[in-house]
Amino acid sequence: MTTTAWNDVDQYVNARLAPHDRALDAALEACAAAGLPAISVTASQGKLLALLARSIGARRVLEIGTLGGYSTIWLARALQQDGRVVTLELEPKHADIARANIARAGLESVVEVRLGAALDSLAAMIAAREPAFDFTFIDADKANIPEYFQRSLALSRPGAFIVVDNVVRDGGLADASSADPSILGVRRLHEMLANEPRVSATTVQTVGSKGWDGFTLALVGGRS
Ligand code: SAH
Ligand code: DHB
Ligand code: MG
Repeated sequence: MTTTAWNDVDQYVNARLAPHDRALDAALEACAAAGLPAISVTASQGKLLALLARSIGARRVLEIGTLGGYSTIWLARALQQDGRVVTLELEPKHADIARANIARAGLESVVEVRLGAALDSLAAMIAAREPAFDFTFIDADKANIPEYFQRSLALSRPGAFIVVDNVVRDGGLADASSADPSILGVRRLHEMLANEPRVSATTVQTVGSKGWDGFTLALVGGRS
């Protein structure tokens, strides 16, 4: 259908506004060489995350779902001085590749990859009263998105931003009859947000080289 045109536009925009460099290219090449799925954010999406993080002056960034650290590198580069990214990953192989990619980008001193199931890692962070985060990117398994969002909210300062990837899923978001756990997860997120006075949120659909999907964007402490 129009996916070729979506790709062309992604390439046009990426080449001008989100150009790759050696570290980003090397990260994607290392992911491919290791057989990781090609599901990192696109360059223009990475740039969007970086711009949002910069716009709120983010010092503490939380990422849920590291894969090979491609989005992590975009976020780490957007940090203010003395900033830090904590990124949560279940798969040891992914975490190892991410650490190597992050080191190659010269960012090992600002990024911490924490291995484990994100629900457990987040619960431990809440129990330990870790300092609040300014920005969170939720991008792990989709069935647990509502719980990731609630726990991220507990770890966010007022004025923080939370971004959730893959919430439209080829239009599955609007399919009330779906039994797909990922669709149920993104639908439950929206039901939750509709009744969550602590955040103001919207969802934006996207097309591009990753097909038809979208982001939920939430401001903590916002008015609707
Ligand atoms: N944010 C990355 C892509 C993440 S892909 C980027 O854009 O570059 C999703 C990742 O979430 C995978 O690496 C997967 O192993 C991880 N994941 C899946 N379930 C998880 C869980 N329960 N806890 C932590 N990470 C999980
Ligand atoms: C999938 C996961 C992602 O985070 C993504 O951006 C695209 C696809 C997936 O699990 O299929
Ligand atoms: Mg994703």
